[in-house]
Amino acid sequence: MNKNIVILGTQWGDEGKGKIVDVLTSKNSYVVRYQGGHNAGHTLVIDGKKIVLHLVPSGLLRDDVIGIIAHGVVLSPFALFQEVDMLENLGFHIKNRLFISDMSPLILKYHVAMDIAREKKLGLNALGTTGRGIGPAYEDKISRCSILCGDLKDIKILSVKLEKILDYYNHQFISFYNQPMMYYKDIIKELLPVIDFCHDMIQDTTDMLHNTVKNRKNIIFEGAQGSFLDVDHGTYPYVTSSNSTVGGIMTGTGVGPKHLDYILGITKAYSTRVGNGPFPTELFDDVDKHLSYYGHEFGSTTGRKRRTGWLDIVLLCRAIYLNSLSSLCLTKLDVLDGLKEIKICIAYKNIQTLEVIKYPSMYHLQNMRPIYETHPGWMQKTKGVTKLKDLPNEAQRYIHRIEELTNTPISIISTGPDRLHTIFIKDFTPI
Ligand code: IMP
Repeated sequence: MNKNIVILGTQWGDEGKGKIVDVLTSKNSYVVRYQGGHNAGHTLVIDGKKIVLHLVPSGLLRDDVIGIIAHGVVLSPFALFQEVDMLENLGFHIKNRLFISDMSPLILKYHVAMDIAREKKLGLNALGTTGRGIGPAYEDKISRCSILCGDLKDIKILSVKLEKILDYYNHQFISFYNQPMMYYKDIIKELLPVIDFCHDMIQDTTDMLHNTVKNRKNIIFEGAQGSFLDVDHGTYPYVTSSNSTVGGIMTGTGVGPKHLDYILGITKAYSTRVGNGPFPTELFDDVDKHLSYYGHEFGSTTGRKRRTGWLDIVLLCRAIYLNSLSSLCLTKLDVLDGLKEIKICIAYKNIQTLEVIKYPSMYHLQNMRPIYETHPGWMQKTKGVTKLKDLPNEAQRYIHRIEELTNTPISIISTGPDRLHTIFIKDFTPI
């Protein structure tokens, strides 16, 4: 049976999507990134070795898999070059199995400089971006002045476009941001080696995917970031600049909704967020220390400490609705080991109106304070457990309560970073 699976985050990113993509890819032939860029950081542990991917689709580390970076992704050719080089040196031969869309907007150094300059100017109101140039690159796309991957194949077109766009950027750099000018000839010079490297990877990936669907090959769509960093559905303006909810697949790949057979939402057993913006269940106490320490909650792209909090069912229900989720995958359950009690946010209280709210508008999220349900924790270790029945009773009750509150089944549980640290619940049959 042809089954295409979507794997996306239901929180603010860092839910552990990379590991699940890697685990589920064994029986699939294509893995597709459809939005975001190298702001993403997907950590995999393979044979005890930690590998962090930013652009290369996570499933590509399996031998017989084809990777696609579709046009919804903003692509830094330098970041791609470095990452592929790192993987080839580790013995993963992926270069001939990776394709990038000719319609992907490029991230070049003026995007990065603009991202950093803007954050600096915002001072205390900064968004806390990853500083990778993501926002400016998507702005160029919407303003219809991006340099596209396909342009890398023609130096003349590339030079004309670069000269024109740099006029605009330099004007802002000099008159508004007090930054040095950039010259298109310098950028072309830096690009030459990576152009050579990318040349054969550049394809019409929409057509490739169309054929993949027609030939009934399996596809995994690998989301980056999480639902509440989505530019339309997230905690705007504290969001990324792409659609990290399921809609990003249609616009970002050209594959239509009837080909999305199974939509799996990845949810950490608690919450984290990097960067600024509302976070109703945020913790500042010893539990924060516990989650940070045992969950290694430091950004895999920027190294920043992640903010931590309890699981938020209000937002999770919203993510289930926004993405038409088929089921949930609960990750990092083992990080809760050793906590005396565990809280779940089941509703909010609006601090201005004192109303109890179950379906808040994202516009008012900063006014919401959590209402919790408290559950007993467990002292036993769950790390590496592979069967539901081997989990402590309290952990099983926590899992069932999440299913009950969200009215959505949990089909996979991750109990550690390794491929093998995974519980498949009996009725998860995506293929
Ligand atoms: P940008 O995507 O670099 O523009 O950053 C915008 C916001 O999204 C910031 O709060 C970042 O910390 C956050 N963000 C971007 N990518 C990720 C990710 O992969 N995981 C978690 N947060 C992210």
